Amino acid sequence: MSILFSPLDIGPVQVPNRIAVAPMCMYSADDGCATDWHLQHMMSLAMSGCGAIIMEATGVSPEGRLTPGCLGLWSDANERALERVITAARKVAMPGVKFGIQLAHAGRKASAALPWKGGKPISPAEGGWRRLAPSPLPFGDGWPAPEQIDEAEIERIIKAYGEATRRAARIGFDIVEAHAAHGGLPHQFFSPIANQRNDAWGGDQKGRMRFTIEMAASMKAAAPDNIALGARINGTDYIDGGLVLDDAIAQAAELKRQGLHFVCVSGGNIVPGGRPVTGVAFNVPNASRVKQETGLVTRTAGLIYDAMQAEEILQRGDVDQIAIARGVLDDPRWGWHAAEKMGVKLEMPKPYVRVGLGQWAGAKLVRPSVEAKAQS
Ligand SMILES: Cc1cc2nc3c(=O)[nH]c(=O)nc-3n(C[C@H](O)[C@H](O)[C@H](O)COP(=O)(O)O)c2cc1C
Repeated sequence: MSILFSPLDIGPVQVPNRIAVAPMCMYSADDGCATDWHLQHMMSLAMSGCGAIIMEATGVSPEGRLTPGCLGLWSDANERALERVITAARKVAMPGVKFGIQLAHAGRKASAALPWKGGKPISPAEGGWRRLAPSPLPFGDGWPAPEQIDEAEIERIIKAYGEATRRAARIGFDIVEAHAAHGGLPHQFFSPIANQRNDAWGGDQKGRMRFTIEMAASMKAAAPDNIALGARINGTDYIDGGLVLDDAIAQAAELKRQGLHFVCVSGGNIVPGGRPVTGVAFNVPNASRVKQETGLVTRTAGLIYDAMQAEEILQRGDVDQIAIARGVLDDPRWGWHAAEKMGVKLEMPKPYVRVGLGQWAGAKLVRPSVEAKAQS
């Protein structure tokens, strides 16, 4: 009995299996609007065999984008462009697939060139925009100091999370997740490295957590009851003086009190180079503790690439859902191949049914490691 291929209830939403596509920036939007790139990307992932597909970090306001190519959901034009993508992806999706979106604000990391153009900060003269942050502390060497954000701007951005949630619900997303990890604005507020305020938005753990909690409350107030709401958080910053597992547990518990249904536990990136020394499934121990301590539905990602490895993590009860990022870019049929390894028969898209489990003898030849457990 495969847990990987068993359904999971996340609040009001049921996903057909435990495999999620992790949010991944495509840097291919036009003024925040999804393009034909997103259309092909999401239509392909809709047929990946993964049960939930979480779209990339999506700016709740124009200045909240990391790069000029980042997706946004602050305008009617953004909403229409994304609706086209999701409507098309749904038409070809495998049975029960759920679509999610990650709402984000890059804060002091905003206004950077596309990764394939170097990823360096860009100035207003080069087409860049404002960087807003809890304190005027640059992200790292070579980064300009951001503007310290005032109360009115904080309120504006918190409201924008609610408005983007409303738009996401109208488009038909099933899952809305706040990006509170990887050095974005909510994480900057929570981090003692990035937040040195003495007012009600900083100071002790409670003050530093306030932005994230009010953001969650704004999303909760805007979300209809049929949507699963959650947040991606850091289990640790992997850096001296940064957030540790106890902070993550406290934050997840508070998010649960706000009515969120799940967390995805990741880590790193509050400063450049603040990354884990990556080993296989490196976020699992922290994610597992968050799950144990809070009882929240918990997802994790990070060098989980093999179906049997994912199954073992689930069998141990460490987490409830496994997210795959680079693995699905490498193999957009990751879910099919995972099912093949586990001997699970997926209901295939009809035009592709000839490559379903046991239908195509070539599977054994191109993937010799796979024991074809077909019943034909
Ligand atoms: C191209 C790319 C874009 C990414 N964009 C995002 C993002 O928008 N939001 C996010 O939370 N993480 C993002 N990540 C991190 C992934 O979601 C994931 O946590 C990380 O790649 C580790 O998982 P993996 O080993 O399966 O790739 C991105 C990763 C990649 C490779």
